[in-house]
Amino acid sequence: MFNEKIQTGLIKQLNRELKSSQLYLSMASWVEKKGFEGISQFLYDHSNEERMHMLKLIRYVNKRGGDVILDNNISYKKIIYNNISLKELFQELFEHEKEISKKINNLVDISLQEKDYFTYNFLQWYLEEQVEEEALTKMILDKIKLIGEDKVGLYLFDQDIKHFQKKHNK
Ligand code: FEO
Repeated sequence: MFNEKIQTGLIKQLNRELKSSQLYLSMASWVEKKGFEGISQFLYDHSNEERMHMLKLIRYVNKRGGDVILDNNISYKKIIYNNISLKELFQELFEHEKEISKKINNLVDISLQEKDYFTYNFLQWYLEEQVEEEALTKMILDKIKLIGEDKVGLYLFDQDIKHFQKKHNK
């Protein structure tokens, strides 16, 4: 029988990954309509990665004999970015990733308290991933802050972002 506390924590996390995927998908769609081809591609790719994070968790929970419950009523604030800047968008993305990192840290802590070393081992990949995700989103945010509202700078950044990647291999 899969540890109840661990199972609950992992199911909450996989639903957070689902929420992240939808959040980035919304951002990508909004940015695409603004004409930022590179940034929208980055966000579409990021949305797919979050979905992959969710799938990895679903398959792990199933492998351990748990029961996955997907939250079909995800309550995150409605994403209407009509009047926000790219800086605000990436600030939100960075804050979101920091929050996810806290949750992963908490899960690792629970796995140790419960002496579930399989889950502890499984979560190491997520720890490494969060280090890279935070570093990448912070780097993007810093660049956007530097560029400000300069249109040429933003145009060049939209081209540059196509080459930004995490160092961590999946
Ligand atoms: Fe799945 Fe961006 O954390």
